[in-house]
Amino acid sequence: MDQPLSVLIVEDIPDDAELMAMRLEEEGFNLKWQRVETENEFIAALENAPDLILADWTLPRFSGMQALELLNKRNLRIPFILVSGSIGEEAAINALHRGASDYILKDRSKRLGQAVRRTLDSKRYLQEKEQAETELKKRLTELESLYFISTALRNANTSIELLNILLDETLKALSTDAGAIWYFDQSDNKLCIAVARGWFLSLQENCLKPNEGIVGKVFASGKPHITSEYACDKQAITKILPELPKGWGGACLPIYSADSVVGVIDISVPLPREINPEEYKLLNSICEMAGIAVQRISLFEELQASEADLASAYDETIRGWADALELRDHETEGHSERVTELTITLARKMGIPEDKIVNIYRGSLLHDIGKMGVSDTILLKPGPLTDREWETMHHHPLYAYEMLAPIAYLKPALIIPYCHHEKYDGTGYPRGLKGEEIPLEARIFAVVDVFDALISDRPYRLAWSRKDALDHIKKESGTHFDPQVVALFLELINDNKKFT
Ligand code: C2E
Ligand code: SIN
Ligand code: SIN
Ligand code: FE
Ligand code: FE
Repeated sequence: MDQPLSVLIVEDIPDDAELMAMRLEEEGFNLKWQRVETENEFIAALENAPDLILADWTLPRFSGMQALELLNKRNLRIPFILVSGSIGEEAAINALHRGASDYILKDRSKRLGQAVRRTLDSKRYLQEKEQAETELKKRLTELESLYFISTALRNANTSIELLNILLDETLKALSTDAGAIWYFDQSDNKLCIAVARGWFLSLQENCLKPNEGIVGKVFASGKPHITSEYACDKQAITKILPELPKGWGGACLPIYSADSVVGVIDISVPLPREINPEEYKLLNSICEMAGIAVQRISLFEELQASEADLASAYDETIRGWADALELRDHETEGHSERVTELTITLARKMGIPEDKIVNIYRGSLLHDIGKMGVSDTILLKPGPLTDREWETMHHHPLYAYEMLAPIAYLKPALIIPYCHHEKYDGTGYPRGLKGEEIPLEARIFAVVDVFDALISDRPYRLAWSRKDALDHIKKESGTHFDPQVVALFLELINDNKKFT
């Protein structure tokens, strides 16, 4: 049977109150009622939170209007029906304005049941509407949090950045400030704290094995755990127990990436707060999203690591080629390494962006790789070259092009091997490019290359003095070399004793 309807009757005449109650019982209401006739009695009766108030309009020491005002002052929205022997139209309208639900004349009390039913129905309807609106608002806040977190997670580039964002945004969404993310280290078979906030900061040194403590069990079982207080939780691990603060409960959920658990998120709230079902649902959604983000990042990081491995393997190969070239021509030993270092320094000084530097590095080391196609008789000839020999020698940038162009990874590094003998005035080789047609990297490299060649012994001549070499560079500024490059080169040589 339904809960009885508790009715507070404000009425000085006991028989009238009795009559009202009878009417309602006749209409099938299961009633629990109480009659009051003074302000004090009325106020006291409000403590029992009645479902409905029936009030006479005029009483010897109290009035229906006063009762209504008292309700309004207390912000109590208890359905209120005026029942009066006689009431003027104006007073009735006034009462309705002040929040009364309905009014009934005593001699029409047959209407009472119908009025009460209608009043209670509309009150229920209003309550449901309000509840639906509150629910909707909550859903909306949740969705907003999820949207915000997913956007933030997408912006992370490393897993540690990702976990930091994940924890901070989750704490914000749950309006608390203590939490941690435990990450599983496969090589050690241990769960360690990757990021911590609030009281978890003091736990950071501790690592747990799968199945150890709350976190280890959540990890191993893949099932979440809610605790009303960590410090009293029988599942908490004894070695950490003394470090767990009193008065904090929370939830501990697994983070899945693909099919396996990769970590555990701990979110803690201070008592008497508990993680409520809505928050728990939100945490579940966050964990799902986190799992996907973790998967994306780890694929990305693996790819980057293997790319880095590959790049360093390639660079080993390049250095090997450069060394092999210098083995043929003892005089040039160390030339490639020296010009590479000086070229990179000069390139940075000229404002070349960092992402081009790696190709300048590779291109410089390989600048004369085309000499692999030039025979020893020419390359090591102790005297001047004949016209036919020069023809072969002038091919060495083209040989480099043919050698390196098929290697996708080295294609962007081709500029220097292919263009380092072009001259600013257009009289160089192999294409006779002029001025800015020659890529800046190659214009920079040419100055460094000739300088280092001149101050080194060659099979066809002995080394020049540094002064003679610098004079030659100055003299060729604007003809062989780009004057802007020469200016900065001279600055660099003068400023930096390392290169002199
Ligand atoms: P390399 O010996 O490494 O010289 C590189 C560049 O430095 C030369 O490019 C040239 O611009 C400059 N350079 C080197 N030595 C001198 C020099 O004594 N005087 C002047 N004015 N500039 C010099 P280039 O001329 O296109 O030569 C390219 C390569 O051809 C040289 O590389 C070298 O391997 C070879 N080569 C050049 N001249 C001779 C030569 O007389 N005899 C032999 N056997 N080989 C030569
Ligand atoms: C544990 O897992 O026993 C430590 C408490 C926690 O951080 O969840
Ligand atoms: C060098 O070996 O220093 C560059 C000269 C050339 O590329 O032939
Ligand atoms: Fe060359
Ligand atoms: Fe060189």
